[in-house]
Amino acid sequence: MANVIIFDHPLIQHKLSILRDKSTGTNQFRALISEIAMLMCYEATRDLPLTDVDVMTPMGICHAKQMKGRKLAFVPILRAGLGMVDGVLNLVPAAKVGHIGLYRDPTTAQPVEYYCKLPADIEEREVIVLDPMLATGGSAVDAITMIKAKGAKVVKFMGIIAAPEGLKTLQEAHPDVDIYCAALDDCLNEHKYIIPGLGDAGDRIFGTK
Ligand code: PRP
Ligand code: URA
Repeated sequence: MANVIIFDHPLIQHKLSILRDKSTGTNQFRALISEIAMLMCYEATRDLPLTDVDVMTPMGICHAKQMKGRKLAFVPILRAGLGMVDGVLNLVPAAKVGHIGLYRDPTTAQPVEYYCKLPADIEEREVIVLDPMLATGGSAVDAITMIKAKGAKVVKFMGIIAAPEGLKTLQEAHPDVDIYCAALDDCLNEHKYIIPGLGDAGDRIFGTK
């Protein structure tokens, strides 16, 4: 079974508490999602392979390290995953970005696919899927299935808030996928929203409600 990492870093926990607050407006919500994603990305990329390089400093040769062949692709799940893209690209500007469009049918809570565009060389890249909310897990499971079907071999999931139900579903469907989240909340309500959660992430990022 792959790793599940729930972040306890004070900076992340502090920002998350403001993110959850219903009085936090769209502007600040967007900024916080991006900042939390950047902090999480630092940890999620910890095991990227390095290669030895010699660099000439003004003082002479330095035996240093640089990132090796395998490169990154970030794949946000539309819409809410888009809010995390700026933050992770701040850390890894050379990464490519794919997009997967899924929405939850409001009556069944089942994910419905409407878009998929991934980098052509996705099979050579480590893929980090971005979506702030892991509720039932249906959207993440389907997105990762689509990404693997296009040839990706190393896939991670980076979310902000997970429900225990979603975590279990994702782990069972994709046991090879490492999961990074800033919080593991209590449960889902009858509408499959995370409790206490933060409400509808897409609506709060884009100001659509
Ligand atoms: C939200 C969220 C996830 C999904 C999580 O998207 O951003 O993609 O729900 O729920 P699940 O784990 O039960 O699948 P939503 O369907 O509301 O679409 P939106 O981002 O376009 O608003
Ligand atoms: N999607 C959201 O945006 N919020 C939830 O709590 C669950 C799914």
